[in-house]
Amino acid sequence: MKIIIAQDYQELSERASQIVIGLLANKPDATLGLATGSTPVGLYQKLIEKYKKQVISFEKVKTFNLDEYCELAQEHPQSYYSYMHHQLFNHIDITEENINIPRGIGDELTLLCREYNEKLKAATIDLQVLGIGNNGHIGFNEPGTSFDQETFIVELTPETREANKRFFNSIDEVPRYAITMGIKNIIAANKILLLASGVAKAPAIKELIYGKINEKTPASILKKHPDVTVVLDREAASMIK
Ligand code: F6R
Repeated sequence: MKIIIAQDYQELSERASQIVIGLLANKPDATLGLATGSTPVGLYQKLIEKYKKQVISFEKVKTFNLDEYCELAQEHPQSYYSYMHHQLFNHIDITEENINIPRGIGDELTLLCREYNEKLKAATIDLQVLGIGNNGHIGFNEPGTSFDQETFIVELTPETREANKRFFNSIDEVPRYAITMGIKNIIAANKILLLASGVAKAPAIKELIYGKINEKTPASILKKHPDVTVVLDREAASMIK
């Protein structure tokens, strides 16, 4: 696992964007796995800047998002569909048919999981961007999830709902369920780029780096992956030597 410690969030975002840009320079039709949440916002801003300066194009890029809330319509401002369009897709030249975001609404959730899983299996993700939960989750694979898990419907832990309530008016509005790539799907990516910013992430990062590979810390599986880069700011790195 390669660890990069940036001075601050700006530098973290710049370093992460350089990794994505490096990939796209070599492979303009790359498939990217994308995350939502606060952490990758700066990365997406840098990618938009580089697109506007014509350093990169997303014309041939395909994307697969990690997860989506259940119970929220796509057009809900807090759906991950809205997030991705607002934070990245509306500002670059990606084509809508190359965007894959799981759908978490409807009567046929099991079927939606199976369909997304089949799409993932038919694809090869060149680079998967990840954040990490305060509890060590990746995607919405909460502590205790099997490392063999594929795309599924997860009941979010109270801790994750609490952490995400900042995006909603109240905790009651935070969805209880989400559809997420499983850990098995995530680690099938050729390369993984995990980003963490802020002191709240420091214990999860410490556990990732020094802890044992253990289903209680979903991110710990990344130690088995041959090509993982972790980019941290100083606060997220504050519990590692
Ligand atoms: C988001 C996702 C989550 C987040 C994690 C960190 O698609 O899958 O695992 O990456 O919860 O969220 P932030 O970045 O908001 O701290």
